[in-house]
Amino acid sequence: MLVLLLACAGPVGWTEAERTTILSLSPLPARAPSPTNRVADDPAAVRLGESLFFDEGLSIDGQSSCASCHVPELHFTDGERVATAIGVGPRNTPSVESVAWGTWFFWDGRADSAWAQATGPLLNPIEMGATPEHVRARLLAAHSVGFTEVFGGVAEDPTGALVQAGKALEAFERTLGPKAGRFDRYVAQLGAGNDGDALSAEEKRGLRLFVGEAACVSCHHGPLFTDHSFHNLGLPNIPAGGIDPGRARGAGDVGVDALNCRSRHADRPAPSTSERTDGPDPFSEPCPELRYLDPSFPDWAAAFKTPSLRNVAATGPYMHDGQFDSLGAVLHFYDTLPGKPLVGHRELTLEPLALSGADLAALEAFLRTLSAESPAP
Ligand code: HEC
Ligand code: HEC
Repeated sequence: MLVLLLACAGPVGWTEAERTTILSLSPLPARAPSPTNRVADDPAAVRLGESLFFDEGLSIDGQSSCASCHVPELHFTDGERVATAIGVGPRNTPSVESVAWGTWFFWDGRADSAWAQATGPLLNPIEMGATPEHVRARLLAAHSVGFTEVFGGVAEDPTGALVQAGKALEAFERTLGPKAGRFDRYVAQLGAGNDGDALSAEEKRGLRLFVGEAACVSCHHGPLFTDHSFHNLGLPNIPAGGIDPGRARGAGDVGVDALNCRSRHADRPAPSTSERTDGPDPFSEPCPELRYLDPSFPDWAAAFKTPSLRNVAATGPYMHDGQFDSLGAVLHFYDTLPGKPLVGHRELTLEPLALSGADLAALEAFLRTLSAESPAP
């Protein structure tokens, strides 16, 4: 009877495979390089980017800044179903905490760098509604000291000035990486060879489901809990919002984006002295991700970027259109997979989980352990 109770209460010892997977989820890595932004890790650019992030004067009506929607206390989300500033947008505001590890930005990945991404909301008519000329004038009026320090001055041409602002904003965002939580403390205990007490038996049971039976880890993997890719979960569609083509459109948009990795605004590393003379080296080609991008890939219809699950307990509502208010509602969706997608097809590997109530509660309890232990900035 006791043995049976223990078995029900939660994991008593991990299999070798489970242990290996769990150890791959922590600790948080050092930030990845940002090859097209020369000032990405310049401390002066970080300070400049921070002042831009909070500057409402950059918006056309002086009413909103990046921080109006990416609120620091909410892990840089806004707690709203969809974003609202000058107008109401179709999509939910994601956190900016994992920018330093991203390859594609926005839910549909229509920007291929965080600096190019940052120019989007500045000009978006329903977000900050500015023009490049308005942005340049504001940079000269309010940020010229910082611009001189970081770039030698504000660029003459408005697009160049906009790009500079984007690069400083990226430098700031790169410092926001999620902070370690109780889960990380547990993985450290596990790595040191003991099945530690940082997680409760219920949370460990949820973790076992996450990396096992529920297969969440097949998409939410690595220390950021994302594969940085795009999937169509076959979410129930909200007819009023119309059909969102997701990655199918984003992949086309980024290929022709005037600020993509191939553009003249992308910084390039200094050419190496051992440059080959027999033609270009295929392995050092800049922007390989763009080269192999195929917007007609059928799985990209209504596919959206896998979000990081770091601090997920504090970043609701959930999904690209904010259609779920709680983690319980998200889990109920994965448990039952109701309805049929209106566009494309649901990722073929997804099957209704059909878990018990206790298992669903355990999974949710586990997700809550991904919250940072230190308070938000
Ligand atoms: C009106 C609210 C609003 C404002 C203002 C705003 N954002 Fe956003 N942000 C959003 C929404 C909504 C998305 C997702 C849009 C989409 O996918 O189409 C987003 C996406 C992002 C992303 C992509 C994150 C990811 O994982 O792909 C970053 C980075 C970001 N914003 C940074 C900024 C910066 C920098 C500014 C200021 C220049 C800013 N945002 C202003 C609402 C806002
Ligand atoms: C096939 C890949 C895949 C699998 C498997 C998967 N997810 Fe997701 N998850 C995604 C994608 C993609 C999104 C965003 C979908 C959208 O907005 O259209 C998402 C969104 C979420 C969100 C909302 C996060 C936010 O900030 O909006 C949570 C929570 C979540 N998943 C948890 C889980 C859990 C728990 C499991 C296992 C039961 C799981 N996921 C399995 C790909 C996956």
